[in-house]
Amino acid sequence: MCGIVGYVGKRNATPFLIEGLEALEYRGYDSAGIYVAGKGVLKRAGKVSVLKSCTPSDFIGAAGIAHTRWATHGAPTENNAHPHTDATGNIWLVHNGIIENYRAIRASLEAEGVVFRSETDTEALAQLVGKKYRELPILEAAVAAALSEIRGAYGIAVMSTREADKIVVARLGSPLLIGMGDREYYVASDATPLLPHTRRVIYLDDGEMAVLTSHGHSITSLTQAPIEKGIETLEWNIESVKKKGHDHFMLKEILEIPEVIENAIRGRLDLENSHVHLGGLADAEERLRKTKRIIITGCGSAYYASLIGELLIEEIVGIPVETEIASELRYRRCTVDPEGAILIAVSQSGETADTLEAVREAKRHGIFTLGVVNVVGSSIARETDTGVYNHAGPEIGVASTKAFVSQLVVLALIALYLKQCHGTAETNILQELTRLPDYARSILGEREQIEEIAAKYAGMQNALFIGRKFQYPIAYEGALKLKEVSYVHAEAYGAGEMKHGPLALIDPEFPTIALMPRDSVYEKTLSNIEEIRSRGGKIIAITTGSTPQGMNEVISVPETHEALLPILTTIPLQLLAYYIARSRALPIDMPRNLAKSVTVE
Ligand code: AGP
Repeated sequence: MCGIVGYVGKRNATPFLIEGLEALEYRGYDSAGIYVAGKGVLKRAGKVSVLKSCTPSDFIGAAGIAHTRWATHGAPTENNAHPHTDATGNIWLVHNGIIENYRAIRASLEAEGVVFRSETDTEALAQLVGKKYRELPILEAAVAAALSEIRGAYGIAVMSTREADKIVVARLGSPLLIGMGDREYYVASDATPLLPHTRRVIYLDDGEMAVLTSHGHSITSLTQAPIEKGIETLEWNIESVKKKGHDHFMLKEILEIPEVIENAIRGRLDLENSHVHLGGLADAEERLRKTKRIIITGCGSAYYASLIGELLIEEIVGIPVETEIASELRYRRCTVDPEGAILIAVSQSGETADTLEAVREAKRHGIFTLGVVNVVGSSIARETDTGVYNHAGPEIGVASTKAFVSQLVVLALIALYLKQCHGTAETNILQELTRLPDYARSILGEREQIEEIAAKYAGMQNALFIGRKFQYPIAYEGALKLKEVSYVHAEAYGAGEMKHGPLALIDPEFPTIALMPRDSVYEKTLSNIEEIRSRGGKIIAITTGSTPQGMNEVISVPETHEALLPILTTIPLQLLAYYIARSRALPIDMPRNLAKSVTVE
């Protein structure tokens, strides 16, 4: 949700801190602030550009921390922006996460005469560190003592005016990486700001803290017990996080879909032997062979991808599958017999709080967990028992596009792999997977037609998305995309539901986007569409093969196996949402109220 960066070393910290905030702005962006040793603090409401414009050229120092905020407690004002300080002005702290017991901490400190300046939960932690620091005048000891009284989630970076060459970082539930330079260290809440400087990183795990100075680093538990951590190498490169001449990351990332599909299947298909290779699952093959029940979970688009995964596994393998939104699953009574059960957690960022907690809850019940994750080294990737990476590259746009398509491809591979464990894989689907990148290219090659349709419907205030079977979750995903980036009210329904109520919505100003490829339920869907047309409803049809009669607009995608059609039909919906949002001149990559990774509940 929020973005954190820090630097300590031989150079001026300020350029890295500002550029790092700009790279993280897609995570959360209603206010920002920076603290540099020896210079003090600057904070502004609004985007990072506002802070950047008021940072003087002599705002220079060898260590500093900075933060871009997505408000959870307290309005997005300068006063509530991070870094926050304590009563003495010695402690400076930035935080990502939620301090659940901040009210009790604040009340206790106010009773001791501490005067709070903001409405945030974070300031309670800064003030508590300040109190501990007066008792334990070593920064890491004061931070550890304060964190021992905290309940909630945090990723923090803390500095002191009295130990100017030191940054203390700690994490519980909100990600933090340490970038390793030559006698310099970088801190970031995700990999993006590190890429121009280093690809050697240490991932902090929950309950760990680190002390960074220009002379070296140490990593310990919160009880100061030393911990050895290996240095890992980031897969991504700086090129992959640039817009490459496109107006928005969202369009760039949609246009990457053919390459993303290729990356998802690369090295994983053996057509000659009708075999799927998933390295991460090889050690779990025996466990997967005994699978009798599967639960799939995720949030938002990852949940809709999970629904497709459910249909894929049931169709291809014949094992019972249930899918649940992670924020619901984690609170349901677990009635699953862990023997023969698997939880598949789908998450692009690998940091979504509800999905991560659903994984932890499943593990507490002894259920084997498998992650479908894009960000290497993310919390879900590290905490699941095994998994399959998307290899989709960084997705910067808040709206999930290429990552969603990659999730569908990986879930198809997992279904085929499970089939293999229980017998033989489906040759036809294997063959078709290799054709998907070219099918996607042909759809993207026709995007001007979609842009024209978007221009015709740009003024709509409402839209209905309908689909059946494999297209039912795609209807929901299409509605979400349109909502997210163009703020148009969009509903999604199973096509068969129209007569049970939604038909009442239909009039000429309430268009329907109908997912109607020529699949096993095409005729049924067509009759639902007739019900809409006969009541004056306009239809934008996403179909395959010959043009169905009587539609207002028709967008065709190539024929392929029914189970793989969602990978293709979702692409026009992403483009439609993008072009409508662009016609409204909206901040497409950073829609209002949203952030890329929901690391708080
Ligand atoms: C999708 O366009 C949204 N950005 C959102 O629904 C997202 O899919 C959801 O927050 C899950 O994120 P994750 O895949 O990183 O867990």
